[in-house]
Amino acid sequence: MTTRVFTGLKPTGQLQIGNYLGAIRPLLDLAADPDNDLLVSVADLHALTVQHDPARLRALTLEMVATLLACGLNARAKLFVQSSIPAHTELSYLLESTATYGEMARMIQFKEKSRGQESVRLSLLTYPALMAADILAYQSEVVPVGDDQRQHLELATTLARRFNGTYGDVFTVPRGATPAETARVKDLRDPTTKMGKSGAAGAGVIFLRDEPDAIVAKVRRAVTDNNPTLTYDPRNRSGVANLAVLLGALTGSSPGAALDEIQGAAALKAAVAEALVETLAPIQKRYRELTADPAELLSVLRSGAEVVAGDAVKTVANAREAMGLLSLH
Ligand code: TYM
Repeated sequence: MTTRVFTGLKPTGQLQIGNYLGAIRPLLDLAADPDNDLLVSVADLHALTVQHDPARLRALTLEMVATLLACGLNARAKLFVQSSIPAHTELSYLLESTATYGEMARMIQFKEKSRGQESVRLSLLTYPALMAADILAYQSEVVPVGDDQRQHLELATTLARRFNGTYGDVFTVPRGATPAETARVKDLRDPTTKMGKSGAAGAGVIFLRDEPDAIVAKVRRAVTDNNPTLTYDPRNRSGVANLAVLLGALTGSSPGAALDEIQGAAALKAAVAEALVETLAPIQKRYRELTADPAELLSVLRSGAEVVAGDAVKTVANAREAMGLLSLH
């Protein structure tokens, strides 16, 4: 029996090291296990929930595909673009019709992203229903996501259970998979907030395509503190802890152990920068090769969509029937 694993990434900006350690690398581990059937969707529809530029979205979608392939998401993962499978949006509406306004409005991301905005797109509110549709359309069992997506995933499981209870068993109820230590990489300049693709001007964000010089400069300017003795204390020493998390994740040890051999913040920063450059250099090389042939990227996406579409269409047909919609076939 294979396990269906699904995850998605939004093409809203260049991927950063938090995405890599929190989402992509765990995916590579999962893809290496032949018992897993891994689906990875570039969630371009999710990028429409806030103001966006059409040409930039198209470019970022292709960039993300190339980056994921460059990271080694090999032929065993089924990579596709969310909007190329219309069943997602159809199922999203059916799921919206099982969810409540209150459930959507209390999502932390909705509150954060809508706060202080004069105009909020309705899709920002309903976004978790679309994310649930992504997951449930493929009867996914395991959904690897970072901490910031846990609430959305919980809502997806709630909607699956509710639908099954109300209309009959249509959906597999998914469960999350969050890597322990790497689940939250923080911004280097503001280690109390998570590192984000769109972090202010990117000063505290390590993008996967940052040149070695930029990496060294950004890490050197990371916030630490005046205590010369390094200890792993996320609550009181968030800057040092964040660097320890990064170093540990990049070198395959725990954050605490990563600090063992290192004396002082300058040495810690040098070690983090070196580990980052070492990890990213081969990815960047493959990225340059892949983007040299955009037609090949499109063909990878076409085959990905062809392989997965049937499953999604079947689930939606079952959901439609269970909800009482007429079938003409
Ligand atoms: P997105 O694109 O914001 O993020 C993609 C993945 O990266 C994780 N992540 C992080 N992990 C650790 N540290 C960070 N600083 C960090 N920043 C981001 C996220 O938790 C996520 O796993 N709605 C989703 C995309 C999506 C999806 C799905 C995910 C669409 N459909 C279905 C799972 C299943 C999103 O916006 O992720």
